[in-house]
Amino acid sequence: MSRRPQIVGAIALLAGLWLAAVAGALRVEATQQAPAASPRSMPGAANRAVAEQYCFGCHNQKLKTAGLALDTLDFDHVSANADIWEKVIAKLRAGSMPPPGRPRPDAATAQAMAISLERDIDQAWAVRPNPGRIAAVHRLKKRPFSRAAAGRKYLEIAQGRRVEQE
Ligand code: HEC
Repeated sequence: MSRRPQIVGAIALLAGLWLAAVAGALRVEATQQAPAASPRSMPGAANRAVAEQYCFGCHNQKLKTAGLALDTLDFDHVSANADIWEKVIAKLRAGSMPPPGRPRPDAATAQAMAISLERDIDQAWAVRPNPGRIAAVHRLKKRPFSRAAAGRKYLEIAQGRRVEQE
């Protein structure tokens, strides 16, 4: 009888530790998944809004500054113009667009946009690989969870080459 409270105490302690561990694990998971979650918070419409505010002024179908019109692109189906978007991603990552002195999105927004554009391209690539899109392969390789997919793509490309050679 006298040991009851001790046992109850021990169980409570264990339960507490378990909850703390689970909460800790969840928190770690949440932090690790933060980049993966950001594209969902930057859908096509959000990216378009950023571009409208900071890019369309020069890169529209009338001015076509640097031969680039972004206002006519489909922000919901980025992979359709992957080569153009890869350039946009590079500029966003480097923070080199808009040109110095022009109003620009804050760094976090620019990065989030770059990440979500990359995701869209990579996901389309994983579904329908295009050997010309090497930037996507490099990114797939870097991401552990897509390594298998990247491996498959390499295999397909390699096999394609062999078929061409034969
Ligand atoms: C004030 C006008 C202006 C604004 C605003 C602007 N750009 Fe540019 N952009 C230029 C000029 C000029 C060039 C060519 C010179 C260069 O590449 O730096 C250029 C070049 C580019 C290129 C390279 C095109 C190519 O084919 O090589 C990309 C990509 C680009 N801009 C993306 C963007 C994005 C994305 C934004 C918005 C976040 C933006 N630009 C905002 C003027 C602008």
